[in-house]
Amino acid sequence: MIKVIVAKDYEDASDKAFEVFKEFIKPGKVLGLATGSTPLGLYARMVKDHKENGTSYKDIKSFNLDEYVGLPITHPESYYAFMHRNLFDQIDIPEESTHVPSGLGEDLEGQAKKYDEMIDACPVDCQLLGIGSDGHIAFNEPGTSFTSGTHVTDLAESTIKDNCRFFDNDISKVPTQAVTQGIGTIMKAKNILLIATGANKANAVKAMLEGPIDEACPASILQKHASVVVIVDEPAAALLQNK
Ligand code: F6R
Repeated sequence: MIKVIVAKDYEDASDKAFEVFKEFIKPGKVLGLATGSTPLGLYARMVKDHKENGTSYKDIKSFNLDEYVGLPITHPESYYAFMHRNLFDQIDIPEESTHVPSGLGEDLEGQAKKYDEMIDACPVDCQLLGIGSDGHIAFNEPGTSFTSGTHVTDLAESTIKDNCRFFDNDISKVPTQAVTQGIGTIMKAKNILLIATGANKANAVKAMLEGPIDEACPASILQKHASVVVIVDEPAAALLQNK
């Protein structure tokens, strides 16, 4: 079941996302985390809450969705570096409790399998998601099997263009592959919180919520999940029939 909450703008969406996510920021919980522009407002609120209210992450574990292939963790645009800069280094989560897939190594598929095994042993209580303008979740691009596990994937042309802004607007600098949790992996999370803001997400949001459940829109599978909250701002909700 999907519950849709329409927010006014990005800040309001981030406030509402924090309200939902904070229920899972408790000892023993496992958080599923995402990168990209969308969760930055939520992460800022988590950091503020930690600093002002002392909310602790000492007994929390986290698993991230994805990582670019070929970027060392010291690269500022690696998702490992992103997570440390925007969240982990500003809260009290132990380094060994955080997990970001590695995009480096001889046997990426073998490592991906191990990542799924770790998640199976530590089921995610709430998985945070953004959505790509093409409907991707994590880096599961259109056409990815709904039953996929963590795997190596090629990024879609539109995703490479969308992410160019993080790489000096130089398309040649954007990695072309990623390691990503599969759709099957994501669907195992007990709860899912997806945030979508901005007009460039409106088509994907409509397809996710009101389109057929079809691999052409990876996010449409969420219609089959038992517990999903989708927070959209007004521009991202613009094409929805049922608001
Ligand atoms: C990030 C991820 C991606 C992003 C999506 C939206 O870990 O898995 O699916 O959530 O590409 O990106 P932004 O938030 O930058 O618009």
